[in-house]
Amino acid sequence: MSESAKLTLSGKEVELPLVKGTENEVGIDISKLRGQTGAITLDNGFGNTGSCSSAITYLDGEKGILRYRGYPIEQLCEHSNFLEASYLSIYGELPTLPQYKDWERNITHHTMIREDIKKYWDAWPHTAHPMATLSSVVSALSTFYEDSGDPWDPREVEIAIHRLIAKMPTIAAYAYKKSVGQPKVYPQNKLGYAANFLNMMFSMPTEDYEIDPIVEKALDQLFILHLDHEQNCSTSTVRIVGSSHANLFASVAAGVCALWGPLHGGANQQVLEMLEAIHAAGGNVDQFVARAKDKKDNFRLYGFGHRVYKNFDPRARIIKKTADQVLERLGVNDPLLEIAKKLEEVALSDPYFIERKLYPNVDFYSGILYKAMGFPTKFFTVLFAIGRLPGWIAHWKEMIESPATKIGRPRQIYTGATERPFVPISQR
Ligand code: CMC
Repeated sequence: MSESAKLTLSGKEVELPLVKGTENEVGIDISKLRGQTGAITLDNGFGNTGSCSSAITYLDGEKGILRYRGYPIEQLCEHSNFLEASYLSIYGELPTLPQYKDWERNITHHTMIREDIKKYWDAWPHTAHPMATLSSVVSALSTFYEDSGDPWDPREVEIAIHRLIAKMPTIAAYAYKKSVGQPKVYPQNKLGYAANFLNMMFSMPTEDYEIDPIVEKALDQLFILHLDHEQNCSTSTVRIVGSSHANLFASVAAGVCALWGPLHGGANQQVLEMLEAIHAAGGNVDQFVARAKDKKDNFRLYGFGHRVYKNFDPRARIIKKTADQVLERLGVNDPLLEIAKKLEEVALSDPYFIERKLYPNVDFYSGILYKAMGFPTKFFTVLFAIGRLPGWIAHWKEMIESPATKIGRPRQIYTGATERPFVPISQR
């Protein structure tokens, strides 16, 4: 293959260098295009646009491959845990035992949040969506921890990383406790990451709460599966906010907002609400599939389709297996699972879905699993956010440390009115 691409524009030929990744992906470097030709590229939704080079996550949508720092997601789910995988994604290598112990201690010793921060929940209604309160409190961390807000001080960044990963489950659990009118439960530093979160969510002062190791393991695995997915909507948001040199707390708060949308992380809430609607309507799956295919209807089959995966979503496969195990263990006989299986069957044999390569994605089965674990539907996207946090941090850090980084500032093709004289209000 030649090492450049040629573009002819208005009779002028320009040569554009090629950039090759370690998995032989090829990109055409157009950074000098406007200077040389006056033209820009246009790519709605950025489906063909690489915004950076990154060494964190590799995915191949055609083959259904997902690897963090070269390690297949299947192996990490089987042999690793969320904290170790987080270290891997942020620092690039699996930790040695002393590095892991140090990392674990640093995270588990920053789990408390300042008592003043709790007052936020006094002001918010108990119906507040937890993604709204999560983004607000994460943003507010920069007011309480100004001593770890400098993006250029490696020690301050390190402390901000510990604080964010440690405090996110505490903030999330406090949002839940407020919504159900129960007292907030302080974190327990002796517990593992997922166990501590389950304890803050579901324990009460009135009785003992036992953490089921199967549920703990499944939740930890779900966090690993959500940890990173290269340049997705929320990660790109974190990078673009950070590219203005905003601090890590502010950048992550923006990522939480981006994740909330129903086409991104919010899809897990939508999937469950959709399954409930199908159930309430008598379980007629065909009727909902027909609606999803109707171009005049805005309805989509949530949990199906992916910008990158056009074969299958490897995360969905792992979750489906775990869901079967956890549901059996908890003795849950959820009619929604039957509806989900029927929906999957119908959708996968329907030419509309086959032609468009629409397969179940990560959100399709995760909701059923979260529901079985006792999480309310409105809370599902928060679980996604806890899992995705180390990925956002890894990308923010990679972006800040890269000499190639520039402020994210796309161009546009202007399609508005051309110049016209101002018309006084009396003449309009
Ligand atoms: N139900 C019905 N039709 C669909 C669906 C769906 N879930 N997804 C895509 N299509 C159709 C779409 O109408 C279009 O049809 P046509 O070519 O006739 O116009 C075609 O498939 C291509 O869709 P697109 O919207 O151009 O594809 P995209 O790559 O821009 O969007 C997506 C990807 C994930 C936003 C989309 O598939 C979707 O809206 N899915 C439902 C929401 C969902 O489950 N999101 C979670 C994604 S995985 C977790 C994450 O990373 O956040």
